[in-house]
Amino acid sequence: MPTKLDTKPTITILYDAEEDRVREQALARGEKFPALVCNQIEESLTKRGYTIKKLAANPPVKKLVRQIEDDNSDLIFNICESLGGDGSEERRIASVLELLDKRFTGSGSLALTLATDKSLAKKLFDFHQIRSPDFAIIAPGHVEGNPKLNSFPVIVKPIATDASIGINAKSVVDNFQDMMERVFSIHQEFQCPALVEQYIDGREIYIGLLGNPPTMLPPIEWDLSKLPDGMPRIAGSEVKWDDWKNPELKAAKEFVPEDLLANEPLMSKIRDIVLYTWKSLQIRDYARFDLRLTAEGEPYVIEVNPNPWLDRSAEFAMAARKAKPEMSYGDLLEKIVEVAMLRPMREKNGKS
Ligand SMILES: Nc1ncnc2c1ncn2[C@@H]1O[C@H](COP(=O)(O)OP(=O)(O)O)[C@@H](O)[C@H]1O
Ligand SMILES: [Mg+2]
Repeated sequence: MPTKLDTKPTITILYDAEEDRVREQALARGEKFPALVCNQIEESLTKRGYTIKKLAANPPVKKLVRQIEDDNSDLIFNICESLGGDGSEERRIASVLELLDKRFTGSGSLALTLATDKSLAKKLFDFHQIRSPDFAIIAPGHVEGNPKLNSFPVIVKPIATDASIGINAKSVVDNFQDMMERVFSIHQEFQCPALVEQYIDGREIYIGLLGNPPTMLPPIEWDLSKLPDGMPRIAGSEVKWDDWKNPELKAAKEFVPEDLLANEPLMSKIRDIVLYTWKSLQIRDYARFDLRLTAEGEPYVIEVNPNPWLDRSAEFAMAARKAKPEMSYGDLLEKIVEVAMLRPMREKNGKS
């Protein structure tokens, strides 16, 4: 697939050095560990003739700032979702890139801040009337209630983690006591407020958007109905990450739901909701939207993932492969490079 760029930019892939450490430790224990995304991107773009460097982000930040400042590539491919494993640093890495006037792929620091604090994102959804589960935020000593949230079951989540960290089979509760137990355990374990949400019974649908302005990739469904009896139908941490331990969980496969694709009014409703959500959080380049679709055909936005995981087996790359025209993993990466290169840079105020 040709790109609109006249020449191939030189690229530095920025990622959290912690990923190397985790992988090395797993290999040392004799475990299998898939190739890191930074290496998948390096391999794929190198094959396509790009000059690629990698920069593993390590604290202390002073040294990292110098390394970024000295980097002379045309583009930083930013897949740095954490620093030293701390996911709350993702938005600040983007701020550093912005302050140093670096051109980088994916969303800027504001979108990352808004989307990764689920309580902030949901307040914006309320303002923009984007359909999302009713919610309350419970911090130690401070509750922001929502009068509409008045029935069980609810799901209790940390406001600011991803990859289903802190979300598991115990997260869906149907009484006040179990709810408060989950809330307190989230306060203790994650030192952050808990987000209590109306539980949406429905199909689990992921929607990818790509480009500026974005186009929608085909939906990917994760069929959670085959989870073992007694497990809530959610993509909790056991289901996302422990499937290799449990063959039953593996049965829960991801695919393009043809019935949804064929339902033009529903697809148009989904398109409107995700495009509006994209704008409301000021996202750019690429993002994945996690939705639940009720039996009545109402889509609810569960959360937004700017800079979603770019593993070649993950939902975003899978959706690109299923797009028309089909985009291979390399095509997808080149498209992300292209949209980041064509995007206007921020005008500098005053002297540099
Ligand atoms: N309000 C909800 N109703 C039903 N299921 C939910 C709700 N919130 C989360 N889930 C389930 O939990 C999963 C993980 O929640 P999510 O908010 O996307 O967290 P993460 O950022 O860790 O991916 C979702 O993919 C979905 O299966
Ligand atoms: Mg999610």
